Amino acid sequence: MSFRSLDDADVKGKRVLVRIDLNVPMHDGDVADVSRIERNAPTITEIADRGGTVILLSHYGRPKGPDSKESLKPVAAAVARIIKRPIAFAEDCVGPVAEKAVAALKAGDILCLENTRFHKGEEKNDPAFAAKLAQLGDIYVDDAFSVAHRAHASVEALAHALPAYAGRAMQEELEALERALHSPERPVTAIVGGAKISTKLDLLGNLIAKVETLIIGGGMANTFLAAQGKPVGKSLSENDLIPTARDILAKAKSLHREIVLPVDVVVAQKIAAHVPSRVVSVDDVGPAEMILDIGPRSIEQAVSVLARSKTLVWNGPFGAFEVEPFDNGTIEVAEAAAELTTDRRLVSIAGGGDTMAALNVAGVTERFTYVSTAGGAFLEWLEGKKLPGVEVLGMFEAAEARDVKR
Ligand code: 3PG
Ligand code: MG
Repeated sequence: MSFRSLDDADVKGKRVLVRIDLNVPMHDGDVADVSRIERNAPTITEIADRGGTVILLSHYGRPKGPDSKESLKPVAAAVARIIKRPIAFAEDCVGPVAEKAVAALKAGDILCLENTRFHKGEEKNDPAFAAKLAQLGDIYVDDAFSVAHRAHASVEALAHALPAYAGRAMQEELEALERALHSPERPVTAIVGGAKISTKLDLLGNLIAKVETLIIGGGMANTFLAAQGKPVGKSLSENDLIPTARDILAKAKSLHREIVLPVDVVVAQKIAAHVPSRVVSVDDVGPAEMILDIGPRSIEQAVSVLARSKTLVWNGPFGAFEVEPFDNGTIEVAEAAAELTTDRRLVSIAGGGDTMAALNVAGVTERFTYVSTAGGAFLEWLEGKKLPGVEVLGMFEAAEARDVKR
């Protein structure tokens, strides 16, 4: 995979439309988690320092039309605080209001446009809407890997309308993920957890062909245990997907790949903080019990798999990590992965909102090789799907190469 980056862009004196992902968690009118903004900061300041004018584009939430509750204004203020530079704001992302705001900019200035999803054309990937956005700039830079799975106008159509480049965060995400999955040091282990097998089926089916070992955790593991005839009591489990789980187990066997399921689990009668719980073998889950985390032997099993792995790809926690003490399995495995990474024995890549949160709780985020901000996009990338926002960045290079040949 190749794509053009900021290294290839001549931004001096240009109006640069920069797509970032300001779809950040908000609390009491302010940004609650700034990690995505921090990742985009280098792209913004680099373009401004190289003499470009920066015009920020983003969606926020899933508004049905213009809605002051979904305005990017408070988020723009947070970006200004983080990059320690003033940022102007325009109350619309296209039309006279946006044009006037852009016309007032000098080299090095930064402007944030209002939520792109206030216009229907955004989610429809409407070329006419993209053309209106394109009028505001000379160059397009996409720095939002976490939105790359959306074929929306500010992600896809706009990249056809202007010379398009990957920003620093986009570049870093793609390079880190490429390194981990396209020429990974083997053996590769994937941990896939989380609540539901149904949303991650494609992922498992594709992933099993790419990794030596697949450790399944979270609610998904219960469906696999049920497929093996184990009692899962009242656990989250999707019985209609048992045949699919059996297919995946059979596929693993025919490909000589290993699937690792829990051997012991932590069970309780309900899910609440510090309720009475016990550790049981997966053969002994009672009819009134729920599986809420993996047990110590399963933790040991996962850690020993990691100890003989060279690369780890992780999405989704092992247990109900939001509720103590059912975060224990995730935290212990995360600590082991961090330690192996520090010792240079493992390349560790994790992604997704819950996974990021769990790694933050474990305090190991910094020690992982790479943690992606992307949830949906990371999953689709892992599934082997082509991401529209990434494809379109490679396309320009291909078109240019053809021009040179002619
Ligand atoms: C995300 O937060 O995952 C991205 O910003 C995409 O948002 P969406 O799921 O509303 O398209
Ligand atoms: Mg989302």
